[in-house]
Amino acid sequence: MHLENISLSNFKNYQQCDLEFSPHINCIVGPNGSGKTNLLDAIHYLSLTKSAFSNIDQQAIKHLEDFFVIRGTFCKNGKEVQLQCSLKSGGKKALLKDKKPYIKLSEHVGNFPSVLITPYDTDLIREGSEVRRKFLNNILAQIDGEYLDDLMKYLHLLRQRNQLLKDMAGGQPFDALLVNSYDEPMIGLCRKIHERRNSFMVDFLEIFKKHYALLSDHKEQVEISYRSHLQSQNFAVEFKEALQKDMALQRSTKGVHKDDLVFTIENHSLKKFGSQGQQKCFVIALKLAQFEIITNNKGFKPLLLLDDIFDKLDDRRIEKLMTMVAGQVFGQLFMTDARPERTSRILEKIDAEQRTFLVESGEVKPPGLLPK
Ligand SMILES: Nc1ncnc2c1ncn2[C@@H]1O[C@H](COP(=O)(O)OP(=O)(O)OP(=O)(O)O)[C@@H](O)[C@H]1O
Ligand SMILES: [Mg+2]
Repeated sequence: MHLENISLSNFKNYQQCDLEFSPHINCIVGPNGSGKTNLLDAIHYLSLTKSAFSNIDQQAIKHLEDFFVIRGTFCKNGKEVQLQCSLKSGGKKALLKDKKPYIKLSEHVGNFPSVLITPYDTDLIREGSEVRRKFLNNILAQIDGEYLDDLMKYLHLLRQRNQLLKDMAGGQPFDALLVNSYDEPMIGLCRKIHERRNSFMVDFLEIFKKHYALLSDHKEQVEISYRSHLQSQNFAVEFKEALQKDMALQRSTKGVHKDDLVFTIENHSLKKFGSQGQQKCFVIALKLAQFEIITNNKGFKPLLLLDDIFDKLDDRRIEKLMTMVAGQVFGQLFMTDARPERTSRILEKIDAEQRTFLVESGEVKPPGLLPK
């Protein structure tokens, strides 16, 4: 599968932009703030119906305009597929596949998969558990439609239950029957989601460790452990017993929405004791494992979007990564760099079709050779 072309209208800092891509390597170069990452984000929209960086779609509409449209042609199994994602100011996001709308956006997820590696990935280590759950959900949603359905159902019930807890704190009379009506469906969905995350983590961990060892020259031991309230034998009882606390806090305190992944290096917290280089290596290995899991599951390679990756890696690691690119481990690649001469130097050694796009203030120069 690959993306043949893209057309942007009023997307972030692009007024109008039409590009034809190489099925192999696409380099997007240009100064800071020119629109390189925005271009990757537009591809992310086509792949996952949302931005990789913001939950607020309206922010992707170009300033002073009232809509955006992203169109792209994918080639999948030898057939061309046209996708269009659009949003009007104050309206709802729409996604068309070959001019037909999807009933549910979630039906699209996983059909045109992508993996993005960005400087923000270290948030996975530094930030709270929500970021790590999002990472886990993002992979599982792309490989397992039933998981995504279960998760959406669960999050819907969770929002309703939390609203009820708030309403009761605000004076609505306590209705035990109504509160209890959430228990069984939520506990059932928690069990299903937990089971799926648990078995997924077994496969994922093995692949992740392989990539970490490869990138780091087998220097150190890393681990990921999956923590969940569901690991308790008495989860159902504990869920119900938490009601008093839930009422006091006005939110549900037990369930898979509290799951977390704990990252360690040499048996110590990666967040507290990992060096910057080790942390960067860890998140890249996480993303490469994501790439491999999706490839194995789908039988084809996702798009790989590398945002500013060279900046974050030492020469040895760049070389390792580029060996994988040259070895056709990856399919279609999009990478951004603010330093064209560096990209040019790195890509010189790779024998694969390459196209380079020079971006300046939301405008792209025709593909050509990079300055040496
Ligand atoms: N909705 C929007 N309307 C207009 N401009 C926008 C919008 N959203 C973001 N921008 C602009 O896009 C630019 C940033 O683009 P982007 O993040 O793609 O830059 P970049 O080329 O990746 O830069 P860097 O090398 O620093 O990573 C900023 O100038 C920002 O103001
Ligand atoms: Mg950028």
